[in-house]
Amino acid sequence: MKKKIFSGVQPTGNLHLGNYLGAIKNFVDLNNDAQNKCIFCVVDLHAITVSQNPKDLKSNTHETVATFIASGIDPKKSIIFKQSQVSAHSETAWILSCVARMGWLNRMTQFKEKAGKDKEKASIGLYSYPVLMAADILLYDSTHVPVGDDQKQHLELCRNIAQKFNNDYKIENFFIAPEPLIKKEFSRIMSLKDGLKKMSKSEVSDLSRVNLTDDKDQIINKIKKAKTDTLPLPSAIEELEKRPEAKNLIGIYSSLMNNTLQESIDEFAGKNFSEFKEKLSDIVVNEINPISSEIKKLLDDKVFLEKILKEGYEKANEIASKKIKKIHEIVGF
Ligand code: TYM
Repeated sequence: MKKKIFSGVQPTGNLHLGNYLGAIKNFVDLNNDAQNKCIFCVVDLHAITVSQNPKDLKSNTHETVATFIASGIDPKKSIIFKQSQVSAHSETAWILSCVARMGWLNRMTQFKEKAGKDKEKASIGLYSYPVLMAADILLYDSTHVPVGDDQKQHLELCRNIAQKFNNDYKIENFFIAPEPLIKKEFSRIMSLKDGLKKMSKSEVSDLSRVNLTDDKDQIINKIKKAKTDTLPLPSAIEELEKRPEAKNLIGIYSSLMNNTLQESIDEFAGKNFSEFKEKLSDIVVNEINPISSEIKKLLDDKVFLEKILKEGYEKANEIASKKIKKIHEIVGF
């Protein structure tokens, strides 16, 4: 069966190694399989759930498209488009928000984390954000959604919304409950400064992440300064459980080398971090440096990036318009 792949990335700047290893690298592999039909969306409607400077949002949208292409997504094979251009997303999100239950949304841990202590001051958009995400996915009859581990709960919600809509309106298989594609290992890359915290765009310290726009010296410096412990590298996987920073760095190494964790442990058992970090720097630079140079080149050609978005919009809009028309009929509009 042909897989219909859909995923999204927020244009909020600072795309990093976590986004790459957890999501974008998988997008590229899926894009390269001729069996798949892939759609990759720059989710600017999601971005404004927290305050954005309009100028930055525009340039971050270009940067996200440039990152997709620089990483290896081929716009001739996959649709790349901007969420706000296809109005069916907002419309479907509203309809689905009348299907989703408050109780379901109240359980979303990402909202709790992002809203922090002062929930009353969080935007309603931040709260209902997973419903918009469900609309994104369901509009395209997506069968598979590649994401990092942090999106697992949102995908479960999407499946529940799809099933409830189909039940409420007594129309079997209208919305397809999608399968998450989350890598078993390395789908949660942690901060370089704290192995218990997720690597994140919004973390104040730039040293906590390798950005996909970092140059060679910046990458080497960040890995050199990455937090470790004082012991040599372990010889057994179990030992990593008590050593989150070591686990994260070995995980990054393994993911980039397409190694299992055990293979990397076998390679470095008993060695000290300085030796390991040198190797790690080399492979991060090898992977990220060509991408960052290509991003910079593409960002100089806004006409090209806009052309990709326009072509993507036309293709995505054609699919989404058909689906929203059917939704209108089902709902009784
Ligand atoms: P966003 O923009 O926060 O992140 C984009 C992708 O990167 C993954 N990711 C990570 N993976 C591993 N380690 C990390 N430290 C890390 N940080 C981020 C995320 O899991 C994600 O796959 N809600 C989504 C965007 C979205 C979407 C969708 C995704 C909107 N609509 C429909 C799939 C389908 C988000 O905010 O991703």
